[in-house]
Amino acid sequence: MFFRLMYHIVLPIYVIFVIFSSFTLDKSQNNFLLILLGVIFITSIYLERVYPRFLIYIAAIQIISLLLFHFTSQLNWCFSIYIILLSKFLFQIRGVLKGILLGFVLIAFYTVIRISYTPVNSYSILAVGSDFLTSLAVLLIIQYIIEMERQKNALKEEKKREELLSNKEKVNLLSEMAAGLAHEIRNPMTIIQGFLQHSKENQYNIQPWYDLIMSEVSRMNKLTVEFLQFSKPNVSLYQSHSIHGCLKRVMSLTESKVRQSGHKIVYTEYNPHINIQMDFDKMVQVFVNLINNSIQSMVESGTITIRLFKVENKAVVEVRDTGVGIEEADLKKIFNPFYTTKSDGTGLGLSIVQKIIQDHGGTIEANSSLNQGTCFTICFPLNDVNPDASENEL
Ligand SMILES: Nc1ncnc2c1ncn2[C@@H]1O[C@H](COP(=O)(O)OP(=O)(O)OP(=O)(O)O)[C@@H](O)[C@H]1O
Ligand SMILES: [Mg+2]
Repeated sequence: MFFRLMYHIVLPIYVIFVIFSSFTLDKSQNNFLLILLGVIFITSIYLERVYPRFLIYIAAIQIISLLLFHFTSQLNWCFSIYIILLSKFLFQIRGVLKGILLGFVLIAFYTVIRISYTPVNSYSILAVGSDFLTSLAVLLIIQYIIEMERQKNALKEEKKREELLSNKEKVNLLSEMAAGLAHEIRNPMTIIQGFLQHSKENQYNIQPWYDLIMSEVSRMNKLTVEFLQFSKPNVSLYQSHSIHGCLKRVMSLTESKVRQSGHKIVYTEYNPHINIQMDFDKMVQVFVNLINNSIQSMVESGTITIRLFKVENKAVVEVRDTGVGIEEADLKKIFNPFYTTKSDGTGLGLSIVQKIIQDHGGTIEANSSLNQGTCFTICFPLNDVNPDASENEL
């Protein structure tokens, strides 16, 4: 929020202010060129969100257009734009030394351009010195803030990892329990089911209870099937598959159900080249489960959006819906086995999803806003084991 305000609102306003001032004070070398450079600079700031993979080229455009803009406006007030741009770079660059070096280069450029249009006298030399020291102070303050932010994030990550570990232990315990329990209740249940079937065919007088018993039995059966799957030892077939291929299969499996429920499903930003070692069927099951939840969460006609992209060394899949959303307090519980808010739910869907993803070395997170929708973000690490993936950038 703070960054958006700073770079998408304050910065453009400041650029417009410099253009206006340069016109008013009759400093501008070329009015048309000044406006054009201002537009290029502001556009490049917005473009970096749209095309994050071209960040380096966009940064080059930002620097060059700012230097030319400064030269054309002939106003020292551009100094603040340099500082704001520098602060943005410092947040994007990893490494204190690189940041400081870039800061020096940028301020050196600023100084050279400033000298080119100001008379060389003791005032301007001292002013250059003052600008230089100011930028140095700002540079150090920003680096300090970044460092604090990184330490805070590292602590958060650490806490998350610990939570995940204890969650994994719980899941393992439950898996063992599930294996025993599922076997115990499955046999008698099958017998009851057979008996009911037989009774129905022979007109035994259990008609009044038939539907009730049958619906309970079906529910138990569903529970058993999911329970068994949950506890299945890890005998998955891991092979290199494209995530895009998997999502295409999921789309073909779910499209008609989504449409029948009056919703829409769209799949954007696909990248056919991200391969990971996966159990294809289990991975399909993951996304079908998430889509089923999304369908159930949308009361009026809604949209499910699936995105596949790459960030650093991770493959990311997003499943977003426009459903009722989840209360913040409940978000922590949704991956707990048996947590459900549905009358016919087992509450095992998301625990199974999480287990499968963890078995693949991945993570799953949920973000939600009430009455706006929910987004599940699944990340899979890409490393040397997945050569296809690391070679093919999005
Ligand atoms: N996309 C979603 N939107 C809103 N709530 C969701 C969404 N996905 C999951 N939930 C919430 O999380 C709970 C747990 O989901 P989970 O898939 O584990 O079980 P379930 O859907 O209730 O039952 P089952 O999957 O066995 O039919 C759901 O009952 C629901 O309250
Ligand atoms: Mg479910």
